[in-house]
Formats: sequence, structure tokens, C-alpha cells
Amino acid sequence: MQFAPCGGDCGFARSLESQPTLIAPDLMADTSRTLQQTVDGRIASGELRHDAAQANAIVVLDDLLVQLAEPRLGNKSSALGWLFGKKPTVSLDTPRGLYLWGGVGRGKSMLMDTFYELAPTQPKKRVHFHAFMQDVHARIHEWRQGQKKKQSGTGDPIVPLAVEIAEEAHLLCFDEFTVTDVADAMILARLFTGLFERGVTVVATSNVDPDLLYKDGLNRSFFLPFIDVVKDRMHVVELASDTDHRMEKLINTDVYFVDDRAGFDALWADMRGEKPEGEAEIELRGRKLSVDKAAGGVARMGFDALCRAPLGAGDYLALAERFHTLFIDGIPVMEHADRNAAKRFITLIDTLYEARRVVIVEAAARPSGLYPIAHGTEAFEFDRTISRLREMQSREWLDGAKS
Ligand SMILES: Nc1ncnc2c1ncn2[C@@H]1O[C@H](COP(=O)(O)OP(=O)(O)O)[C@@H](O)[C@H]1O
Ligand SMILES: [Mg+2]
Repeated sequence: MQFAPCGGDCGFARSLESQPTLIAPDLMADTSRTLQQTVDGRIASGELRHDAAQANAIVVLDDLLVQLAEPRLGNKSSALGWLFGKKPTVSLDTPRGLYLWGGVGRGKSMLMDTFYELAPTQPKKRVHFHAFMQDVHARIHEWRQGQKKKQSGTGDPIVPLAVEIAEEAHLLCFDEFTVTDVADAMILARLFTGLFERGVTVVATSNVDPDLLYKDGLNRSFFLPFIDVVKDRMHVVELASDTDHRMEKLINTDVYFVDDRAGFDALWADMRGEKPEGEAEIELRGRKLSVDKAAGGVARMGFDALCRAPLGAGDYLALAERFHTLFIDGIPVMEHADRNAAKRFITLIDTLYEARRVVIVEAAARPSGLYPIAHGTEAFEFDRTISRLREMQSREWLDGAKS
């Protein structure tokens, strides 16, 4: 989910209209159901299994639900305050959020998404962290363009940006929080401080212990205050379970389907679970790669869209970075005339292999039958693809795959 692009002249003028608001619970939301009850219901129906390691996170999230349901005074400071360099009044009654971290498949996204559905707060937003940061940089860029036009100097976009975002969401849920980019690292402390000061509650899932965020990153000392901000305004809970629920789903199932679309479809439904299936867009330098079926960290694409369209290594890398599991269907037995598609397929599998991703395949033949041509570079390179496709079906591969 992307935030709406900045409207008007992008001077964040909309924020000037903001007045003290009473953040009222949405009366339509069913605040009577707790996360615990919802999870228990799904355990009873056989959809989920009991997982003791999830209990702690559920308690914190249920407590947060109660706090969010209480009417509270929002940010009392006038939004004009920032214009005059006045510090906003910190909303002391803003509930502390949660930084939920742990290994892959532990149920972080499942818990956050279920919590999000139950949360009575309006407006609220749930967004992949990567998409959020892309939007942040786009807005900063637009803001600077606007400043240039007005010839009003350089200025600092972070505070007005925080004002704007805080108006769009009182509850922000980020999936797959991570910091690898120096441009992100340098603004996060100020941006998040700005959001917290304006009464935003943040819940995030991450694979990384907060103390290790942006580890070995460039100019990390400038980033360190952010870690304190996180610990101050968010509970930090590790989901330290031994169970990788995603892999449990793959234990008794094949991940390579030959002429078995029904089996492939059933596994897709199982893997995406409760998450709604939708389109996803990945921003690449100057263009967008669209994925027609995505749900959380799982995506599904057809061979034609992947290998007959003019995609290259950069696109495949972006896919591998964005999704931990890729379902690929419609892989044909390739002929000599298909060698461009075969070339792309080789690159695709190489990229997913290097990134240690889970690949689930629906194909017209076993790996060794996919490219029955004995000559040419592709034939030679395809041997590697066959070997990798085989290895990627193994238990060891599935157990060791990265998030
Ligand atoms: N307690 C559980 N019992 C059964 N399946 C679960 C449980 N918790 C999570 N899952 C499922 O396991 C898969 C991985 O969970 P997910 O929330 O995506 O993990 P993470 O975000 O930690 O990588 C999802 O399909 C999810 O619905
Ligand atoms: Mg997740």
C-alpha cells in the first residue's frame, strides 16, 4: 500500500488545517474481540497451531488494542507550531507500539496483520517498510522541488513530512522493517521522533534485533539515536520460536508440480494464508515492475511474465529482495526458438538461488526435461539450472532458505 502522493504544491500545506483532534475509536470496529480470542478461534478451526512463543507478543498487542480503544486527546499543538520552530507537545498518552522481531516464518506478519484488522484506530495504515521509505523519499523530493519553485531556500522537509504522515495515520504498521540504505538511516531518527511526537503508534515486524539495525552501515553513529527512539516508544519483543510455520507447510508437500495446477494452486492458497491476494509494484530505477499476485512475502508469477517479457537480472534481484517465496507457474518445455526465454529463466533461477529463496514451480516437465536441446550456450548453462532447481526442492534447501 502506497501513501497517496502529495497533493497541491507539495509544501505540505494541508497540514496547516490540522487542529487539535480527538482520536476517537472507530465505532464500527469490533473492539470486543481480542487478538488472543481471534488466534484461539483459528486454532480451534485447525487453521493455526498453538505456539507458546507467540503468547508474549499477543499479550502486548492485546494491551495495545485496549489502549487504542480508549478515546484520547490527540496532538494538542497547533500544526503551525513547526512553522515557528515550536516543539510540538508530546502526546504523553500515545500508546507505546511494538517492534516484533525474530526469524523467518515465526508468525510475525500474521500476528501484526491480525492485530491491524482488530485495531479500532482511524486512520490507520499497514505498509511494507520498503514501500513506505520509497514514498518518503518521493515526498521529500517533491517538497524540495516545491521549495525551489518558491525560491524559499533549502529548509528541512522532515518535520512537515512527519506532520503530514501523522495526519494520514494514527496507527502505522510496518512489515519487514530493515535499514540498509544510508539515505534512510540518516532521516529515520528525526522522522520517527516527529511521528511519535504527534501521537502516532508504530508496530513493526523485523528479522533484525533492534540493536543490530544498520549494522556495519555507513556513518552508523548518526543512526544510533534511532535505536533509542525505537526502544523508548516501542516495546521490543522477540519471537523466539523454534517453529518455522512457513516451512511446516512445506514438510509433506512437493514444491515442484508437473502438470498439477490444482496441487500448485492449493499450496499457493495455503502459503498465502489469510493474507489477501493483490497486486504489488516494485520500484526500479525509473520504472515499475508489477507482480500480479502477491501476499506478504509470497508472490506468484507466470513464466511468460517473467521470462518472455524484457526483464533482466536487476528485475529478478528486486523480486528476490522483496519476496521470500516465489511461485512460478506455466513453465513450458522450451524449444530452440525459446532460447531468449531460456536465457532469462537461467538468470532468474541463478538469482533466486543466490538469494536462497524458496521457489515453487508448476511446469510441463521435470527440470531435466525443460530444455531438451543439446547444443548452444544455453544448453550448457541449463545444466546448472537443472541442478539448482533440484537442490531447491530439497529439505535442506527449504530449511535453510532465508526470509
Ligand atoms: N501459530 C501458527 N500456526 C500455524 N501457522 C502459522 C502460525 N503462525 C503463523 N503461521 C503461518 O506461517 C506462515 C508464516 O508466518 P508469517 O507471519 O508470514 O511469518 P514471519 O512474518 O515471521 O516470517 C504464514 O502462512 C502464517 O499464516
Ligand atoms: Mg513476515
